[in-house]
Amino acid sequence: MNKKELFLNMMHFRHACKIFDETKVINDEDLDYLLEAFRLSPSSFGMEPWRLLVIADKKIKKDLKPLCWNQNQITTCSHLIVIKIDKKSVLDDEYIKKMFARRGLSEDATKAYIKRYKEFLKNQDISCWCKKQCYIAAANMMSAAAFIGIDSCPIEGFDKEEVERYFELDTKKEEIALILTFGYRLKAAPKKQRLSKNEFVTFLKGE
Ligand SMILES: Cc1cc2nc3c(=O)[nH]c(=O)nc-3n(C[C@H](O)[C@H](O)[C@H](O)COP(=O)(O)O)c2cc1C
Repeated sequence: MNKKELFLNMMHFRHACKIFDETKVINDEDLDYLLEAFRLSPSSFGMEPWRLLVIADKKIKKDLKPLCWNQNQITTCSHLIVIKIDKKSVLDDEYIKKMFARRGLSEDATKAYIKRYKEFLKNQDISCWCKKQCYIAAANMMSAAAFIGIDSCPIEGFDKEEVERYFELDTKKEEIALILTFGYRLKAAPKKQRLSKNEFVTFLKGE
């Protein structure tokens, strides 16, 4: 199989898995690989505004299920990953300095870069800006999983306030962006339903 076929094969394999095989557990090495795929994801200005909670514990999953529309993925998955945004850090001078310093630029260039960053942030809804980035990393993590035969389902169907309260988050500092569930499918994936390319792609012609 060539690289394009390999990649598209992975894209076809990935589906929103509705129920996982509870007898199958993701091993530590594979879990670490998934976390590495997340870690290597791009972020705006390289600020990595995400923090993860990794949950395998049955009791926590059981507690969370009613807060997540009673979805079966929550309790049947091997691992559940809560992606949080760290609003406090991206506005914190020490954190900002640390993240920019590691680029190894001159002092002047670093100062100019930080100035641009702060100007940029003035026009952003911070929560939304952080969350958009988490979704990119989440997609990478799910693709990485599919590449080695691990199934996933992203979960937006949850009561955000209730789940944040469950984890005792100080929502001035952090919020939940998205929940991901990982494991191994119990049933075959349904047929993919997608718009055809001509329904959503427009090729603009030059002169
Ligand atoms: C941000 C996001 C949130 C989602 N939340 C849920 C969810 O809470 N429960 C669920 O069963 N599927 C959820 N999905 C899965 C979508 O319904 C699914 O990706 C879509 O129907 C396409 O199907 P496929 O992923 O199997 O190809 C979510 C997908 C995305 C991208």
